[in-house]
Amino acid sequence: MTRSAPAPAELLTIAIDVARQAAATAHRMRAEGVSVAATKSTVTDVVTAADRAVERQVLDALHRVRPDDAVLGEEYGAGAADGAASGVRWIVDPIDGTVNYLYGLPYCAVSLAAEVDGEVVAGVVRNVFTGEEWTATAGGGAWRDGRRLNCSTEVELGQALVATGFGYDPARRSHQARVVAELIPHVRDIRRLGAAALDLCLAAEGRVDAYYEKGLAAWDQAAGGLVAAEAGLRVAGLGGLPAGPDLVIAAPPALFAPLHDRLADLDASGGP
Ligand code: IPD
Ligand code: CA
Repeated sequence: MTRSAPAPAELLTIAIDVARQAAATAHRMRAEGVSVAATKSTVTDVVTAADRAVERQVLDALHRVRPDDAVLGEEYGAGAADGAASGVRWIVDPIDGTVNYLYGLPYCAVSLAAEVDGEVVAGVVRNVFTGEEWTATAGGGAWRDGRRLNCSTEVELGQALVATGFGYDPARRSHQARVVAELIPHVRDIRRLGAAALDLCLAAEGRVDAYYEKGLAAWDQAAGGLVAAEAGLRVAGLGGLPAGPDLVIAAPPALFAPLHDRLADLDASGGP
């Protein structure tokens, strides 16, 4: 760990403060009405004025308190600072679940994580509509509203409620849908709720048993992945790889191998 880097708890305090203000802005802007400002990778991959305004607010707030840190955000990318001075990089998804936000579905969140020397050490995910807030620090556990979280104790894949998501590219979605079609006979059921960061937080408290998805970006998984791991889930990719764009699997220890093996058989990390 870089000598000058603050403790995870200190970074979390900053993250919580910034994320709460960001969520308040997103909530206010939704109440004022929302429309598509632009599209990104495909016509269904939308960005609203709120995505941009919230990320700008987060960048400005972080810069005020931690001017030497780097920031990676979904809308504005890596920015100017390289973070070498402090070893700290913030990773922000201003609104995870943008399509839900657009439609007024109360399942979208501000996600903010802090990395020190490339390792995520603190994270907060705050639901913009409900105010539910999940936090974690490396080695300090996962928490929601003062309650320490533990993942599901389910051991049977056939009894597991499994959350997943789909990318925006039609060809990728087709492949992902084929994987789901083959998986669903072997699990309790599938949930596609629409915000990866929140899916990981639900898994952290057993409101779903497990989660997997191909194609996540760092901002989708940084904070939620830490929350899930600190709640006891194993968070990894296929074949011993770390969780990443090819695949994120988050499952309780006893469920990880059966889910992993089924997803490997179904080539869940394959396709476009
Ligand atoms: C998306 C959501 C969705 C997941 C996609 C993500 P966005 O993020 O997390 O649940 O399935 O892979 O891209 O676009 O709403 O920030
Ligand atoms: Ca996202």
